[in-house]
Amino acid sequence: MTKQKLIIDTDPGIDDAMAIHYALAHPALELIGLTTIFGNVFVEQATRNALFLLEQAKRNIPVSQGAPTPLTITPNPPSHFVHGDEGLGDLPAPTPSATPDPRPAHIFLSETIRAHSGEVILVPIGPLTNIAKLLAYDPDITQHVKKLVIMGGAVDAPGNVTPHAEANIWNDPHAADKVFAGDWQIDLIGLDITTDIACTPEDFRALGECAPIIGGFLNRISIFYIKFYHSVIGKELCIMHDPTAIVSITNPECFGYEPIPLEVITQGERIGDTIHSTNRPPVNVAKTADSDAIRKIFLDISAKCDTIMGAQ
Ligand code: RIB
Ligand code: CA
Repeated sequence: MTKQKLIIDTDPGIDDAMAIHYALAHPALELIGLTTIFGNVFVEQATRNALFLLEQAKRNIPVSQGAPTPLTITPNPPSHFVHGDEGLGDLPAPTPSATPDPRPAHIFLSETIRAHSGEVILVPIGPLTNIAKLLAYDPDITQHVKKLVIMGGAVDAPGNVTPHAEANIWNDPHAADKVFAGDWQIDLIGLDITTDIACTPEDFRALGECAPIIGGFLNRISIFYIKFYHSVIGKELCIMHDPTAIVSITNPECFGYEPIPLEVITQGERIGDTIHSTNRPPVNVAKTADSDAIRKIFLDISAKCDTIMGAQ
């Protein structure tokens, strides 16, 4: 079976780490690169964490560092209160030995996607700055990327950083607006479905027993993230925003979409709001999801993450 090639653009980040290890563990996926972006953490921390996650899995996959700040707006502070000061809960800064690819993310993305023209799904799960820079640097890239699967947005649902805006879009609304205006296929995995997709502390404790090394790590970092959500929603739950984007690739049968042209509000009280638009290519907005099936799929695949360590 031919594996689906992915590049994940990421701000790891606790749920990013879960998404990356799920992608590495899934037999139908081939992760061919990570690009990093500011958001949950500073971009330098995101790069260090990405290198660490791949070292954990004993995988030799390139990491390319992306933008440190948004295109236009003044940077918002990192979400350290959600993901921890170093982006991995209360764990100290990891010290991976590998170094990043010397190319900036938008050039790495252009060259890597063109080297596998028509085959790569690009999966942004952080702010969309690198993707907007890619579009500006290489406008024809829309004809070479298979599609984008973006974790972000709140189209017909409340936001999570303001009543209107979801974090990834809020952190660079100008970039998101440019991406949604592009002539490429976009599947949008946003708060319209991800808010209801959650794992419990017991789920992660069981994962740690199945896979003591990487599963144990995911259980450890989930604690900080679950504490945050307990403080916000009053329930001890791990909301699976980023892993859901990857599950939408491996298990499309769990998702229902609506084609909606989108634009992003770039100023004022509703900054970062993703709204219905006109005269733009429609985005496939995920509007329905089988939440418990997605949770079970994530846990079943992730339980194998220790056994696949080092698999090429
Ligand atoms: O709103 C959730 C998104 O913002 C996730 O990607 C999370 O990691 C943060 O980046
Ligand atoms: Ca993220």
